[in-house]
Amino acid sequence: MSRIVVVLNGPNLNLLGKREPEIYGRETLADVEAECRRLGAELKLAIEFHQSNREYEIIDWIHGARERAAAIVINPAAFTHTSVAILDALNAFGGPIIEVQISNVHKREAFRHLSFVSAVASGVIVGCGTEGYALALRRIATLIGEDKG
Ligand code: DQA
Repeated sequence: MSRIVVVLNGPNLNLLGKREPEIYGRETLADVEAECRRLGAELKLAIEFHQSNREYEIIDWIHGARERAAAIVINPAAFTHTSVAILDALNAFGGPIIEVQISNVHKREAFRHLSFVSAVASGVIVGCGTEGYALALRRIATLIGEDKG
């Protein structure tokens, strides 16, 4: 069984650590990727890590995960609140999906309270900072089970 986990990051997350650090913290996306790879190795998950500022690229990565990857972790960033297209793509993926929001979007502007992705997610991790990605991977390891090797 596949143990590939596709970790997807939406627009502006390439600026993580530099943009609004009081909201998103000082860790960069490269730090987040390194931690996902470290924990992935521990949990025997094969991590594929991507970021894009383009909606179609995120949709293409979701399509590429179909019938190949075990699970998806996704922080769609601003597309969370706007993208029916990402929701539709995720609906065509069979495995577990964990949504990550670095900040507590519910404490912020009302337009951030709606997530199209939550409607399809197996779980949602909100406001745990960049640690949310590690929590998501641990949840996926629970959902897909141990590697019996
Ligand atoms: C975010 C929250 C979104 O509202 C925002 O547009 C982002 C980051 C988060 O992880 O906290 O870019 O997805």
